[in-house]
Amino acid sequence: MDATKLRRAIARTRLAPVAAFPKRLARVARHDAKVLRASARWLVTSREHHNYTYELTKLSRHHLSWFVSVVCDVPVGRVRGWFAEIEGDDELRRHIERATAEAARRGLADREVRYARRIGWYAMVRATRPAHVVETGVDKGLGSCVLAAALLRNADEGHPGRVTSLDINPEAGYLARTAPWSGVVDLVVGDSVASIGALDRPVDLFLHDSDHSRAHEKREFDAVEPKLAPGALLLTDNVTTTNVLAEHAERTGRRFLAYRETPARHWYPGDGIGAAW
Ligand SMILES: C[S@@+](CC[C@H](N)C(=O)[O-])C[C@H]1O[C@@H](n2cnc3c(N)ncnc32)[C@H](O)[C@@H]1O
Repeated sequence: MDATKLRRAIARTRLAPVAAFPKRLARVARHDAKVLRASARWLVTSREHHNYTYELTKLSRHHLSWFVSVVCDVPVGRVRGWFAEIEGDDELRRHIERATAEAARRGLADREVRYARRIGWYAMVRATRPAHVVETGVDKGLGSCVLAAALLRNADEGHPGRVTSLDINPEAGYLARTAPWSGVVDLVVGDSVASIGALDRPVDLFLHDSDHSRAHEKREFDAVEPKLAPGALLLTDNVTTTNVLAEHAERTGRRFLAYRETPARHWYPGDGIGAAW
């Protein structure tokens, strides 16, 4: 009996689980060793303790470009062009490196600039040319800078816009306090739900990225609904953990789509972008 026939014969016996054990062990050990290697490298090379930054895998970038293309109804080639635009923006990259190196909390930040899914936010702002973006949750201000860079490019093309960035922490947003990016960013300190309630201009693009609890995310979308401009785009950074935006989309008669990012060379499983429009 050849080896294949023997394996198939064993697979039909009670010995099958025992015979398969070494192969299963080797598979899971290979997977765990990869995670352990990435974790050990990260512990030594990174300083971040939350809101991790990383590059996306090539495939994940590819899927993100199609996600933006579908949500914003623009050709995927244009989306790839906007990805190249933000990643080739050396002035912004140098600013973030310098501001990070000089920040009081530099001991908890990496100097290397890695945008991950934020390149998708950039492309969506370039595609939809919003007059007013609202971002809840600012942290260092990396996302605010990316959104501001897109708004500045839109302004150069005759479509000016501003981003209102909301955070409960008065120290948040230190990356977004430098010109030219600060020229289109309004940092507002306070609880995001109260700050949304106080908005006095219609919102064209809303991004939830603050308190990631289900209850808070829902409160934000409920609070922003009466503030939205017709045709507004709603985004959430919480889509890998809750169904809040999908339910909001269903209730309000919108379409919904989710993208799950895959970080390259990182132990963190990644976040994603949920979009309702
Ligand atoms: C994940 S970080 C934001 C990341 C940022 N958008 C970026 O692109 O890097 C979450 C932020 O939400 C803020 N936050 C937490 N609860 C909040 C609340 N109730 N209102 C406003 N901001 C809040 C935190 O202070 C923190 O800076």
